Amino acid sequence: MQTVFTTPAFSVTTDHAQALDTDIVIVPLFEEDDLADLPGLDAATGGELSRATQRKEVTGKPFESFVTVLSGWKASRVVVVGAGPRAKADADCVRRVATVGTLAARQRRATRIAFIHRPIDGASAERAAQAIAEGVCLGNYDGGSYKTKKEPRTWIASAVVRVAAAGGSLTADVERGRVLGESTNQARTMSNAPGNELTPRVFAERAREVAQAAGLGVEVLDEHRIEALKMGLLLGVARGSQEPPRLVVLRHEPAHAVPGVVLGLIGKGITFDTGGISIKPADNMDKMKDDMSGGAAVICAMAALSRLGAPVRCVGVVPMTENMPGGRAVKPGDVLVSAEGKTVEIINTDAEGRLVLGDALWYARQLGATHLVDLATLTGACVVALGKTTSGLFGTPPAWVTQVHSASARAGDRSWPMPVFDDYAEQLKSEIADFTNTGGRAGGAITGALFIKEFAGDLPWVHMDIAGTAWAEESKPYQPKGATGVGVRTLVELALDAAAWGKLNLKP
Ligand code: BES
Ligand code: MN
Ligand code: ZN
Repeated sequence: MQTVFTTPAFSVTTDHAQALDTDIVIVPLFEEDDLADLPGLDAATGGELSRATQRKEVTGKPFESFVTVLSGWKASRVVVVGAGPRAKADADCVRRVATVGTLAARQRRATRIAFIHRPIDGASAERAAQAIAEGVCLGNYDGGSYKTKKEPRTWIASAVVRVAAAGGSLTADVERGRVLGESTNQARTMSNAPGNELTPRVFAERAREVAQAAGLGVEVLDEHRIEALKMGLLLGVARGSQEPPRLVVLRHEPAHAVPGVVLGLIGKGITFDTGGISIKPADNMDKMKDDMSGGAAVICAMAALSRLGAPVRCVGVVPMTENMPGGRAVKPGDVLVSAEGKTVEIINTDAEGRLVLGDALWYARQLGATHLVDLATLTGACVVALGKTTSGLFGTPPAWVTQVHSASARAGDRSWPMPVFDDYAEQLKSEIADFTNTGGRAGGAITGALFIKEFAGDLPWVHMDIAGTAWAEESKPYQPKGATGVGVRTLVELALDAAAWGKLNLKP
């Protein structure tokens, strides 16, 4: 497969836009803007920009883009990107505008860009600088291609962030955005990979490479180690496949860490989900190669937070297996015993994610985690409830859910809290085991979450259901089709904020 992304070199400057030595300048345009708000730009386009405004080709509406040539500036062209109403503009908007501008620049075969940041009330210069770097990286990505006839691709090699006033931390903010954008792209690449390429063993090796390059501790447990740990749920799911399972453990142990806190991050790593014996219909089954997106997010977030020196100890646990209907596969009616000793009656073998997560959450607790967050493409029901742009948040206590929710808002990963009332647990009652693995159609995303909760002990725990958000079905100006890398930036934002939440008393 050919290269799917590159990460540009970034710099920050306060130089005049005219003087920036680059191919294309990217300029956000708000709906209420007057061209006088962009000094010198219309003149440099020879009046083309004002003519385009008059004929309503350029309006400032979100994510429209307009490219034209410049004279008298060092850059040869400008892309004007609609940013919507100024009052609504925030870091999220800036990130998307940067992606749109980057994609447009690449289409024009530019390799060097400069982004003109325009101050807004909705985001500090620091937050905006980070968002610009993230957005540029996200735009410097193409889904993998296995076509033998190669299409020419242009990558942005250098990006200048032009700010009005130099501030102390702006270079660090851009660097944080660069690492977050690059790590999101790494996760997208893993999720886009076909299931025959990214088997559990290959996934574990990629995790090892990414983690080692970022300075994390890595351990890959093979099927024998997993058996020795008696992880009956993970092994039960893996039984139907010829491919052996893996359990990847990542450790971030910084010298200066918030005392008494170990953030446990757990990600579902089903490299392909056929449903098993409760096999899925053929339509759209191909999408189930992304069923390891939660795992990819955990791996790439751990790499990012290590690079950024997040001041908190973290342990990442990613169970990896296929869910296949082989001759030895787990069957409906079977009873599995988890590593913790709890018994589970399998009603539907397609509810496999919660099984592998059960053993993984238990293991994260054995490794000393004090706070848990799991990410999983867990349920179709969550897609029905919240659609394709918002992840479901489930957990306890509410103060911990709030921390993850606000981290996801900072990250530009939309999420929304869902209830986990005990009443729902009745739906998981089994006649013969501690509980079943499915709770029927009603509240399917919630019963899935409550199953996982059984393995969180009494730790603060949040489950993020990314079944709808991990994969974009339609392309948007700021988001091509395919894997989105959702969750990577949320987890890093959460870890970076540990000094604040590490002090909270989070007894469920
Ligand atoms: N990986 C799927 C969930 C999924 C569905 C992700 C659609 C993305 C898009 C998961 O393993 C699954 O099959 N869940 C079942 C659970 C049910 C059997 C209780 C589902 O949602 O149908
Ligand atoms: Mn499934
Ligand atoms: Zn699944």
